[in-house]
Amino acid sequence: MDFKVVPSTLRDARVTVPGDKSISHRSLMLGSIAEGRTEVIGFLTGDDCLATAAAMRSLGVTIEQPSATELLINGVGLDGLRAPASDLDLGNSGTAMRLMAGLLSGQAFSSVLTGDASLTSRPMGRIIKPLTRMGAAIESDCDGTPPLQISGGLQLRGIHYDLPVASAQAKSAILLAGLYADGTTSVTEPAITRDHTERMLRSMGASVASSGATISMAGGQPLRGCQVQVPADLSSATFIILGTLLSQDADILIENVGVNPTRTGVLDILQGMGGDIRLENPRLFGDEPVADIRVRASRLQGGPVDPSLVSLAIDEFPALFVAAAAASGRSTFTGLEELRVKESDRIAAMADGLRRLGIKVDETPDGAVVHGGRFAGGEVASYDDHRVAMALAVAGTIADDAVVVNDVDNVDTSFPGFRDLLVRIGANVELVQEKE
Ligand code: S3P
Repeated sequence: MDFKVVPSTLRDARVTVPGDKSISHRSLMLGSIAEGRTEVIGFLTGDDCLATAAAMRSLGVTIEQPSATELLINGVGLDGLRAPASDLDLGNSGTAMRLMAGLLSGQAFSSVLTGDASLTSRPMGRIIKPLTRMGAAIESDCDGTPPLQISGGLQLRGIHYDLPVASAQAKSAILLAGLYADGTTSVTEPAITRDHTERMLRSMGASVASSGATISMAGGQPLRGCQVQVPADLSSATFIILGTLLSQDADILIENVGVNPTRTGVLDILQGMGGDIRLENPRLFGDEPVADIRVRASRLQGGPVDPSLVSLAIDEFPALFVAAAAASGRSTFTGLEELRVKESDRIAAMADGLRRLGIKVDETPDGAVVHGGRFAGGEVASYDDHRVAMALAVAGTIADDAVVVNDVDNVDTSFPGFRDLLVRIGANVELVQEKE
């Protein structure tokens, strides 16, 4: 399906966006290997997290779903998972693939992890290398991409690992394997990344030390099931924030959004561009900080984007590129090489989409220079990437003419209800059949 977006006037509103994807994945994996029940409230029923739920069920875990966003996970304990009857298909989800690889490396049984065309072309060397050093045996395709064949029955050992890339998925894979390792496992990050795994491990009773950029944890610690209240996903809220900032005069409040400081780089960048964004009613959902985010239409100004914020805003660059395109002046993005190995090559995908809408973009190996301008109408490709699709759809709300975004089905991986919510706040977005 395609989105057809017609220039629109957004109105004042109070909205909620679906639950955090990263925390939803972790609640399933950690809840499954905890002892006792884990109750998840505000679970994201996006395709990525549903793939993880299906995988955990295939590993013998009983997961009840009393309502769409509520799960009851009957934890089986660290050693209670069972061999799956078939390969585990993780769809489009890099988080599921990398974290599950860590979790499954320490099991008594073997398993195979696979996924869709995008996932099976993403690099897995970044987890295979450290997990192998811990004693795991993982085979991939010769270029280091999935499917991954993970051998069972191997005793892992704790290691110290200096991560060469800032990746919460790689860090988390190592920590999950570390639960099954003899001795202590520690990881040093080159830049701070989201710390949801560490926070949830602690909520479940594990002792996890963080000192500067190093996280360490002893193996064999039992986890106890707990209640996980999932905040709304800041990465999804970003598209509503973007639409509001670009609008003529909307004032929108987004409720209960996760504002863990390892995720809020996008707010710093947009505020630095002149965005009127305020956090109201700050509080905690368990160990995770949340707030209501109040956004008002703003005049944005481009400039250099601080590369030290990249790992704290890693999923938000498609939206930030659109913000830069709508801002006055030039915005320079650097340090974004990781964007080339996300669900799509997000630098190339966004450069293509913005150029098709009449924006001048100079692509560089690790970023882009985006020249602020006006969006013309036109037809753009999503590159089968949910965040590229959503970012370009929001650009359509202020374009001079209709914008058609091709192949938007993947939006459901992270933000089911995206179109309905945009429509509720006044955007004119239709779902239309793709042209042959
Ligand atoms: C995630 C980590 C990030 C992010 C992804 C979710 C996680 O990936 O892009 O959407 O839940 O740990 P990397 O670890 O590859 O940076």
